[in-house]
Amino acid sequence: MKCRRCKAPAVIEIPRHNAAFCRECFLRHCREQVRRAIDEHRMFVPGDRVLVAVSGGKDSLALWHLLTELGIDADGLYLGLGIGEYSDESGRYARDFAARVGAGLHEVDLPTDYGYDVPGAARATRRSPCGACGLSKRHLFNGFALEHGYDVVATGHNLDDEAAVLLGNVLRWETGYLGRQHPVLPATDGFVKKVKPLVRLGEREMAAYCVLNGIDYQIEECPMADGNRHLGLKTTLNALEEQSPGTKAAFLFGFLARGHGRFADASDAERETLAPCSGCGGPTSTGGLCAFCSLRVRVSNPQPVALRTGR
Ligand code: AMP
Ligand code: FES
Ligand code: ZN
Repeated sequence: MKCRRCKAPAVIEIPRHNAAFCRECFLRHCREQVRRAIDEHRMFVPGDRVLVAVSGGKDSLALWHLLTELGIDADGLYLGLGIGEYSDESGRYARDFAARVGAGLHEVDLPTDYGYDVPGAARATRRSPCGACGLSKRHLFNGFALEHGYDVVATGHNLDDEAAVLLGNVLRWETGYLGRQHPVLPATDGFVKKVKPLVRLGEREMAAYCVLNGIDYQIEECPMADGNRHLGLKTTLNALEEQSPGTKAAFLFGFLARGHGRFADASDAERETLAPCSGCGGPTSTGGLCAFCSLRVRVSNPQPVALRTGR
């Protein structure tokens, strides 16, 4: 197998592009894909203060590295979720990488700063840990960026993540989510701009990018039950991709080009009903406490478990 670009021995094959690359040309391919996503969707404007959400996994560390390579300075934000040894380890990977590249890393810790952890929140709400986890991440990334004067938050969602989320939203016709599923969400009242510069790169490419750059990342998946809620959807998409390479990219990019606009009204309508949360002042559609503040209340005052009387 030879590199498509320079004919040197290839180290990776990418069936979706009907191509194989040597190390140098592969790293260049990754930079080009990220540059293309950034330009196509106008993710950054000169002078933007950029915050990268880094989990210690391959995607967000590769993203931070790629942005630096492209000359985009960014600080990192690591959120400690309080998931035992898993969180201790993920924090170490994020800190080690920041130290290696000499970049600034902010840290927020759910147990220390907010008095709860993801397993505790799951118990208190008796819902999936991912719900409380995702809600906390969205709220705190946004709040931290606004409070500290960042213009844009970048996350490491890749092509596989986005295609799986899209499939999940289509299967349930979640029109509001479909209207918001885009590599760029512009800043609106109470919300900082959010971007996903890795949408053109798949999971395998990000793992290879880290290995070829000697970036140590956390391989272990989240141990919480249901931790990777999109696993089943990813497996399904992988089977389709295997039969017909390029399916995932066609699904996602076809939606962005021809489907997304049709759902924008649904998410605009949701946004118009937003008012400030009575707890934190952040935007909410509930008219009282936002979902994050309600979660904090529930975690600090767990509801008694209803007893069945057996009648
Ligand atoms: P996930 O929600 O786990 O699929 O992760 C998607 C993206 O969210 C990652 O690529 C990171 O950019 C960000 N992220 C996830 N977990 C954390 C965390 N604990 N701290 C900071 N960023 C995170
Ligand atoms: Fe959020 Fe596992 S990382 S529940
Ligand atoms: Zn609130």
